[in-house]
Amino acid sequence: MGLVDVVVTGGAGFIGGFVVRRLLDRSWRVTVVDDFSTGDMFNLPPPSPLLNVVEHDISIGDRLEALFDGADAVVHLAAVSSVPACEADVEKAFAVNVTGTENVLNACVAKNVEKVVFVSSAAVYGEAEGVITEETPVNPVSVYGRTKLLAETLVQSFSEKKKIEAVVLRVFNAYGKTKAKNGFGVVDQFIDDVVHGRALNVHGDGGQVRDFVYVGDVADAVVSCLERNFDGMEVFNIGSGAGFSVLEVAELVLKAFGKTSSSIVHAPPRPNDVRYSVASVEKARRMLGYSPSVNLKKYVEERAKQLV
Ligand SMILES: NC(=O)c1ccc[n+]([C@@H]2O[C@H](COP(=O)([O-])OP(=O)(O)OC[C@H]3O[C@@H](n4cnc5c(N)ncnc54)[C@H](O)[C@@H]3O)[C@@H](O)[C@H]2O)c1
Repeated sequence: MGLVDVVVTGGAGFIGGFVVRRLLDRSWRVTVVDDFSTGDMFNLPPPSPLLNVVEHDISIGDRLEALFDGADAVVHLAAVSSVPACEADVEKAFAVNVTGTENVLNACVAKNVEKVVFVSSAAVYGEAEGVITEETPVNPVSVYGRTKLLAETLVQSFSEKKKIEAVVLRVFNAYGKTKAKNGFGVVDQFIDDVVHGRALNVHGDGGQVRDFVYVGDVADAVVSCLERNFDGMEVFNIGSGAGFSVLEVAELVLKAFGKTSSSIVHAPPRPNDVRYSVASVEKARRMLGYSPSVNLKKYVEERAKQLV
């Protein structure tokens, strides 16, 4: 395995912190490029001679090239990662998620970085009828999803025209223990609510079904992509392959913490909230050896044991 030097944009974020740990565990050199807008040092491992952390905004192209000097691969995670934040500031969402991705790709070309792993999102699919494969037509319904799809298109074009080996991971709903600078995902939000005696806020009827995937499994998928070689560009769904409704998650959390369902309150539905989003992960299993290791029910029960 020749790879030793990896740039991780957005490495100080929720998923980024897990990715960086996995890379350092392999004794690879890691440069984190992050503007710390939602990321934080607390997501990163302790200082190490193998870890270089640089504060930089990827929507500004200037310094990126210098930071990519000598890199073998880039894991591109930096993004305005929340759906509401993208709706609230469309210009910024495009500047970071689209122009920022173009800047990252241009810096790869300038510095002969041959491989990019781009962390995209299930949001590119929008509303789907059944289980989502990589062949399911894309149809994003949110600004966030649209910026991610445009970024994918850039990755594809650079891969074809500039001969960059590229992997796009369409990640479903990641959960896992973190502190909450950027807010929690719904699973960890419910756990935090129960711990602090707050009611669980379920948007709409709670019947919206999601595929919840453990953040460590996402990080493992990223590493698998770095350890394998691909011809051109490949796209993979990264989920658990199982669907839970938001109401089911709320009930799971309440049960694990020994509370009754009376602590659920229904808030107004969120605009553009898709009804059903569950992944087929067969392609990732086959080509990446991907095998989700943590299941949602066990995670919630484990957290209850730790916190009660
Ligand atoms: N968490 C999920 O469920 C999920 C699902 C699908 C896809 N994703 C994608 O995974 C990636 C990481 O998401 P996350 O959940 O860890 O969110 P996060 O907000 O914790 O991480 C994003 C990181 O990017 C950094 N960043 C933002 N704007 C930047 C800029 N202009 N320049 C440099 N750095 C910048 C932030 O400071 C943060 O560290 C994102 O691309 C997100 O779209 C996340």
